[in-house]
Amino acid sequence: MNQFPYDAVVFDLDGTLFDAEEGIVSSVESAMEELGLPIPEGADLRLVVGPPLLDSFRDLLCVPQDRIDDAIASYKRHFEQEGMYRYQVYPHIRSILRMLREGGVHVGLATSKDRFIAQRVMDLFGMSHYFDAIVGENTGNEKLGKPELIRRALPEKYRCAAMVGDRHFDVNGAKGAGIESVGVCYGCGSEEELQVAGADHIVPDTEALRALLCPGAEIPRGWFLSMEGLDGSGKTTQMELLEKKLRQLGFSVVRTREPGGCDISEDIRSIILSTDHMEMSSTTEALLYAASRAQHVHQRIRPAVEEGRVVLCDRFVDSSVAYQGGGRQLGVETIQQINAPAVADMMPDVTIYLAIDHRTAIRRRLNASTPDRLELEDLEFFERVQKAYERLIRENRKRFVSVDAERDIESIAEDVLSAVLAKLEPEAEWEA
Ligand code: TYD
Repeated sequence: MNQFPYDAVVFDLDGTLFDAEEGIVSSVESAMEELGLPIPEGADLRLVVGPPLLDSFRDLLCVPQDRIDDAIASYKRHFEQEGMYRYQVYPHIRSILRMLREGGVHVGLATSKDRFIAQRVMDLFGMSHYFDAIVGENTGNEKLGKPELIRRALPEKYRCAAMVGDRHFDVNGAKGAGIESVGVCYGCGSEEELQVAGADHIVPDTEALRALLCPGAEIPRGWFLSMEGLDGSGKTTQMELLEKKLRQLGFSVVRTREPGGCDISEDIRSIILSTDHMEMSSTTEALLYAASRAQHVHQRIRPAVEEGRVVLCDRFVDSSVAYQGGGRQLGVETIQQINAPAVADMMPDVTIYLAIDHRTAIRRRLNASTPDRLELEDLEFFERVQKAYERLIRENRKRFVSVDAERDIESIAEDVLSAVLAKLEPEAEWEA
């Protein structure tokens, strides 16, 4: 049974689903520059986000009537080439859309953007599959206006519908379409603007929006992703790029690492990796890694996944299997047994392995920073680690994705991202 207050929800795009400011403002600036027109002193460019472009170029930017078409054409070119790539999905939006879909709610989009561009933005960010209707203006035709756009994004029949938007245009559009309005203050409109327009509800952030649209619904479980590879495989760079991209797509990311990730585990890390501890036995080392992991899972990983977040972990239990099981020759089974109580059922949903030959890894490391105790090991040690990883991959094909990491950074990042997105958003079709 549908437990939600609305059985149809229509969203505005810019400033509601996406933080669009940077993308739009930079495209407007480029268009004005291309046309050789000055930006009027004191003009607040953020006000361009939301209303129809024509109005903004005429009223805010004082573009002469006979140049408005050129300004819009130039803006669109810049927007499609760069602007839309600077968009950012607001946090929680993905989980709200997912919860509405799973609750059987009709989800629509009504934007005064050109509908083809709106569709491209939605595809670029892998969001189209959440929507029953994506409605925008048709360039060249007479403007439909917000009430009509909203009407077209609604289903034929509904019990109670709401329009969610950040500007008075959205509130007025909802009134025109005869439905309720939810004003969001995190976009470009102020609370005052939304109040004056007479919004039925006003929410300060996307968490409050989730509570309003999906009261009492359980937040879907998040994901646990780990990245593995030999020292020197480029993990840190790839972790950074992946984190940045996932944040832009609106995932709530917790980036962490092993050994470490929380105070107790970081303390254990410094004991393990210290070059003062050359006498440490392999068994002590393996137990310390497992102890550090137990606390990390308990304090950081599990709570974050249960809150619906995406945990991005630099190394996890596979590192112990490869380094202590393979490298130190303690045996895979022993390491798995030691780690069983630490990991419990918290295995990664996806593990990315950055595949690089141990000889290349060593060459790269020789050019890098001061080595820690583990990095001081010899060639045979890393050969065993590599072999152990390769065995893990063969035995866990469903979880592991092996990415050739002896290529340029961008190609590796692309493969890593598509492997991760295939797991996180299997229904989405990503624009190439
Ligand atoms: P890491 O911080 O990933 O080092 P780097 O950033 O230099 O790649 O890992 C530190 C070292 O700890 C690394 O040599 C691998 C080793 N390690 C294990 O031997 N077992 C484990 O379980 C983990 C998590 C790491």
